[in-house]
Amino acid sequence: MNTQNTPPTSSAANAHDGQTAADNNAPTVAFPRPTPAQVGERAAALDAATLNIASMVNQITHGDCAKVLRQLPDACANMVLTDPPYLVRYKDRAGRTVANDDNTRWMFPAFSELYRVLKPDSYCVCFYGWSKADRFLSVWRECGFYPVGHFVWAKRYASCVRHSRMMHEQAYLLAKGNPLPPKHPPADVQPWKYTGNRLHPTQKPVDSLTPLIEAYSRPFDLVVDPFAGSASTGVAALSCRRRCLLIEKDAGYYQAAKARLDRLPHHMTAFFLNRQPTKAAPVLQTPKA
Ligand SMILES: C[S@@+](CC[C@H](N)C(=O)[O-])C[C@H]1O[C@@H](n2cnc3c(N)ncnc32)[C@H](O)[C@@H]1O
Repeated sequence: MNTQNTPPTSSAANAHDGQTAADNNAPTVAFPRPTPAQVGERAAALDAATLNIASMVNQITHGDCAKVLRQLPDACANMVLTDPPYLVRYKDRAGRTVANDDNTRWMFPAFSELYRVLKPDSYCVCFYGWSKADRFLSVWRECGFYPVGHFVWAKRYASCVRHSRMMHEQAYLLAKGNPLPPKHPPADVQPWKYTGNRLHPTQKPVDSLTPLIEAYSRPFDLVVDPFAGSASTGVAALSCRRRCLLIEKDAGYYQAAKARLDRLPHHMTAFFLNRQPTKAAPVLQTPKA
């Protein structure tokens, strides 16, 4: 759901809303004044979005992320950390596959929604398949993201041997707007610990994700991962006192991720309930007439 009004591009569009440029001398490109019904509809949509987000925090939601993200309000996420399909028709030795790894149709709908839900001047860290780097970069740019950094994790083993021994993972650090760089930026070459891929064929090590979350978000922030797999981003976010919102399309991986989150100790998933309220902003006095 896009909760933003889209400005009309012509006077015909204004006329359609019962307001012509001649009525009010407004320029031809202007926001139409919403009708009371439209105001009510928008308020209801925002209320629903607020309810939706509350029920999804520190949980994993089963579904297609483009559709689920549409239910969230604009600019509700402080950081995106995600690991989408690599577009390589992945299959491991046990025959496990990754949904949408064989097509690019999901890319624009998912990344444009991610851009909308991310706050301005914030970061998105996105793993990607190096053989399709051009495709990823062009979709990210089309959606408004631009690269400001690049991470490489060095593995001690080869995950595939062909023209080279493939011994690294990689992710782009993307920006929306102009985020303030962190005080202590992490090195862009990092070590990698093998997870055993027990819960998911491409399970990411939590230890590789926590330095990124600590650098590019703050405690209590909301970290979104719409391609959550086994919920590694969620576990990493919760372990550094960030809230998380996770989405996974595959029913089997969703169940494994949900069970993984359910096994976490209560204090990890409910830490923010004890948060001390931040000092309220001072109320400005209206000078007496
Ligand atoms: C590379 S894996 C993520 C693995 C994860 N980082 C982990 O540590 O377990 C990508 C995941 O995205 C999921 N996926 C693919 N398309 C999706 C979509 N449109 N919406 C939600 N999830 C999707 C796949 O089922 C897969 O589990």
